[in-house]
Amino acid sequence: MSVRVALVGTGTIAGIHAEALRGLGDRVDLVAGVDVDGALARSFCREHGIPHAGTDLARVLQATRPDLVHVCTPPGAHLDAARTALAYGAHVLVEKPPTLTLRQFAELSAAAQHSGRHVATVFQHRFGSGARRLRSLYQSGVLGRALLALCQTTWYRPQEYFDVPWRGRWDTEGGGPTMGHGIHQMDLLLAVLGDWTRVSALARRQARDVDTEDLSLAHVSFADGAVASVVNSVLSPREQSYLRFDFTHATVELTHLYGYGEDAWRVTAAPGYEEAVLGAWHGGERGVPSGHRAQFAAVLDALEAGERPPVTLSEARRTMELVAAIYASSFTGHPVDPDDVAPGSPFYEQMQGGGPPWRIVARQEVA
Ligand SMILES: NC(=O)c1ccc[n+]([C@@H]2O[C@H](COP(=O)([O-])OP(=O)(O)OC[C@H]3O[C@@H](n4cnc5c(N)ncnc54)[C@H](O)[C@@H]3O)[C@@H](O)[C@H]2O)c1
Repeated sequence: MSVRVALVGTGTIAGIHAEALRGLGDRVDLVAGVDVDGALARSFCREHGIPHAGTDLARVLQATRPDLVHVCTPPGAHLDAARTALAYGAHVLVEKPPTLTLRQFAELSAAAQHSGRHVATVFQHRFGSGARRLRSLYQSGVLGRALLALCQTTWYRPQEYFDVPWRGRWDTEGGGPTMGHGIHQMDLLLAVLGDWTRVSALARRQARDVDTEDLSLAHVSFADGAVASVVNSVLSPREQSYLRFDFTHATVELTHLYGYGEDAWRVTAAPGYEEAVLGAWHGGERGVPSGHRAQFAAVLDALEAGERPPVTLSEARRTMELVAAIYASSFTGHPVDPDDVAPGSPFYEQMQGGGPPWRIVARQEVA
């Protein structure tokens, strides 16, 4: 039986969602597209063969009763849209970042629990077969102990990119490249290495006329003993997404930009481990590129099996807490652990914490 899907927010990423959903054939029935801009919703629905276009999410949900709502609005509208969808009995798949703040994230989790429906977040880079193999080889011990990781999102966004009114602002985007761009790579880092325990970070507004940072750097410690160096930038003309894991038995590297296939991975075994590591790497699941389609297939598999669809709220919360911790460490000048972004912290209430961050950073620079 097809899963009935509605899309809310019919802008840029919604087109990728519609294409990816179409790629899943008769597993999905796209029933509605909703946008505050009615003309955009209508043209989007016409283009993708979706029968019902509308501007009022609640009315559309009432009329079409989808099983699953994909939330593709700007981040500031995610929580309201998700709550409305849950109230109409739908599961929710929300684009990254799921909410603007950790407080909102807790409200989203409470709404999901109250409704008995599932909420999952889009982090599509977990779902290529390379990432799945890496996680499984690390968990099974083939790669040995994790020692060091590099996690670099060095992208380029010219000033015009920020002409879109919701971009580059704490109150509508929740942050700069840490929250909006590098979050993909950091989520995959955490998917492999697990819980983080401590962060020391630095955020700067170097070159763009925005409210948020345009780059951040962080050192992150993990519960399993590994340490990672993280870079998030939208100022880097030669763009790249790069993850490197040095385990005791192998180095595993992933080099791509916005999505990867098998050829983006490079595995170098430590002396004496060639057969075990390379045999396992080449023997696992292969051939699935990262992307929305791979994640949507995993979401449908989970819903059909009565399981929590990925990426679950508890995993997305860990990633959001790392983002908050990078801002907290950057704007206080101190190392931060998970308790420092818990309820009671200004960085739980808003990603930029209590003060005007650039004046705080400027004072630190003077000091
Ligand atoms: N996973 C990824 O790789 C990826 C890539 C790009 C963007 N995104 C995320 O997707 C989301 C949307 O980004 P985009 O680039 O498509 O933005 P966009 O501005 O192109 O589109 C957003 C659409 O939402 C509509 N909208 C705004 N408020 C609304 C509301 N309350 N109800 C209904 N519609 C509303 C707007 O009219 C617009 O058409 C963001 O959260 C962004 O971070 C994810």
